[in-house]
Amino acid sequence: MQIDIISGSSVPGLAQNIARRLGGSAHFPQIEKFPDGEIHVIEGDYTPGETVAYVQTMHPRPNDMLVEMEFTVDLLKELGAKRVIAVVPYLAYTRQDTRHEKGEAIAVKSMLKALDFTGVDDILSVDIHLHRLSLADLAGFSRIKMHEVSAADLLARQAGMHLKKPLVIGPDSESERWAADAARMLGSDYDVLEKTRLSAREIQHKPRSLDANGRDVLIIDDIVSTGGTMMDVIRSLKAQGAKRITAACTHAVLSDIDTLTGLFRAGMDEFISTNTINNEFGIVDVSGILADKLREIV
Ligand code: R5P
Repeated sequence: MQIDIISGSSVPGLAQNIARRLGGSAHFPQIEKFPDGEIHVIEGDYTPGETVAYVQTMHPRPNDMLVEMEFTVDLLKELGAKRVIAVVPYLAYTRQDTRHEKGEAIAVKSMLKALDFTGVDDILSVDIHLHRLSLADLAGFSRIKMHEVSAADLLARQAGMHLKKPLVIGPDSESERWAADAARMLGSDYDVLEKTRLSAREIQHKPRSLDANGRDVLIIDDIVSTGGTMMDVIRSLKAQGAKRITAACTHAVLSDIDTLTGLFRAGMDEFISTNTINNEFGIVDVSGILADKLREIV
């Protein structure tokens, strides 16, 4: 079946790669910005096909990316699209998945309800932050069908080019699925740590003796944001005699200006990530796994 690939303004290169893999070329709507910050989406003479995949990641400026997605999807539906698959490589707001205190918004639920209302039929994303909720739980918040692919194998393959039979470490129990996949891909062993988040920037791992002495290590996680999680693990591995340390993540949010320098200072040798978010280290291309999944679900 024919799928039209439409690019939001956040990751046009990734949208074009996906389109190429599906044998076409992406369409790029015009996005104008007014002096007060309002945006204006213009499709001109474009008529979408019945099934379209709209590619828009949610970083940086997740709120702007979300509004652009809502306006564009609504317009695509008005122009005749019957099914809109939002390809959102990095799905923001998934960390706000529960009410820790009375009166707090569960942002991921509100976001999915809003996207459903504007006409999104499916969301396809990469390594969704599913800690307390499952993919089925997210699907339960609206009528949107949820689909996910993982970049763990691709990250492991890339890391394996420089590491010898690395010990694979997941910084917390939730990262076990990626650590296990990466270890399987590298024919190596893995372990996961017990983490407590004291604040947005302060992380504490339960002290553990790991079999890291003299070994190459790959630490793998879904997100690196402040880098606090990775830094704590790197320091502890270094203290235990780890040789070469690669830190890998799917989504390089890198929220602080010194996140990367902090990681290198802690003792990391190499940082790798995917291109779900534009960044200097995003050398692992997820267009192939997204295109394959689109073929499967259409
Ligand atoms: C948390 O549960 C995630 O999987 C990541 O470990 C976390 O988002 C990383 O955040 P930061 O880099 O700020 O420690």
